[in-house]
Amino acid sequence: NKTKPTFDVKKNPNPVTGEQRELLLANPGWGRVFTDHMVTMRYSEDRGWQDWRIEPRKALDLDPATSVLHYALEIFEGMKAYRLPDGGATLFRPHANARRFRNSAERLAMADLPEDLFVESVRALVCIDREWIPSAQGAALYLRPFMIGTEVALGTKPSCDYIFCVIASPVASYFKGDGPAVTLWVSENFTRAAPGGTGAAKCGGNYAASLAAQAEGLREGCEQVVFLDAVERRWVEELGGMNVFFVFEDGSLQTPPLGGTILPGITRESLITLGRHMGLTVREERYSIDQWQEDARSGRLTEAFACGTAAVVTPIGKVKGRTHGFTVGDGKAGPVTQRLKAALTDIQFGRADDKHGWLDRL
Ligand code: COI
Repeated sequence: NKTKPTFDVKKNPNPVTGEQRELLLANPGWGRVFTDHMVTMRYSEDRGWQDWRIEPRKALDLDPATSVLHYALEIFEGMKAYRLPDGGATLFRPHANARRFRNSAERLAMADLPEDLFVESVRALVCIDREWIPSAQGAALYLRPFMIGTEVALGTKPSCDYIFCVIASPVASYFKGDGPAVTLWVSENFTRAAPGGTGAAKCGGNYAASLAAQAEGLREGCEQVVFLDAVERRWVEELGGMNVFFVFEDGSLQTPPLGGTILPGITRESLITLGRHMGLTVREERYSIDQWQEDARSGRLTEAFACGTAAVVTPIGKVKGRTHGFTVGDGKAGPVTQRLKAALTDIQFGRADDKHGWLDRL
C-alpha cells in the first residue's frame, strides 16, 4: 500500500533552455548549477505531511527565529539520476536513501517521512527536470533532498514544524580532473563523531564540524581529511564526507565497520556487495592509522580509495599528517580500485546488467 503524494505543479515560466542549458551542462562543476524546479512539502504536528508542491526553484522565506537557524535541525541525502544509453534515466537505490533519511530524522528527533513519499518526490523532480541530466561521461544529476525544522521558537526542543525540500544540480566529478589520486590530511586536532553522537546520521552539523579539519588539510595541500576515532585517536573512521576502503596485496578489501560513528554509505555497501561478487574477501574491520602507514611502506597494502555518491570511487595517493606521511602503492589508481569503480558505474549508467536490482528507472 504505497502512499502516493499528489503534487500541486507550477511550472517555471522562464526555464533555462537550449544553448544556455547545454553550456551549463557541458561544464557544471560541482553543486553550483541548479535546475528549474524544486519539490517542497510541509509538516505540522497536527496536520502531518501536506502541501506537496513542485514549483520554480526559489529562496525559502524563513523567520529569523526558525529552529534550523539556531539549533541546526537539518538532515539531508545525496543521490543521483543517471542518463542511460537508450536516452532514459534512472535512480540508484533510492529506497536506501529514504531509509537512511528516516534514521537521520529519528536521531535528530525530527518528523518521520515515509519512504514512498521521499522516493516519489525525488522521482517527481527528476521527471520535470529530466533535460538537466547530463550525458557527458561520468556526469549525473545530483539530488539533494533535505529537511529543516521550521518552528519559530528559541527553546531547545524538537521542532513542531518542518519543510522537506528536494533540489537538483547537474554535476561532473567532485574532485578536479576525474581520475588522479587525492592526498589526505590526517586530522589529529579534530574528530568527527564520538560514540553516542550523530556520526551515523546525515545531518548538516556533522559536515559543519568537519570543516575546520578540512580547512587545515587544504592549507597543507591536501584535498580531503581523514578522521580518526574520538576515543583512542588511532582507528581510521572516514573522510570528510566519504567512506574509505583499503586493498591488500592478497587482493582482499577492508573498510571500517559501522558502529554509530561512521556514515552508513550506500556506495560503501554497494561496493562491499560488488567486491564479494567478484570473489574478493571483504572485511568490515577496524584499521589503525599506524598500521596503514606500516602496511603502505611494506607493500602489504597496495591501494586505498574514498567512496560516496559525490566522490564515486576516488583513489587515495598520499597520506600526510603531523606524525604521518606515506604513499599508497605507486600513488595512482590501482587495478582493484579501477575494477570496482567500473563495476559500480557500469551498473549506474546502464552499461552492465543490473544483477542486484539497484536501478529505479524513470
Ligand atoms: C554525497 O556523497 O552525496 C555527500 O553527501 C557528500 C557531500 C557532503 C559532498
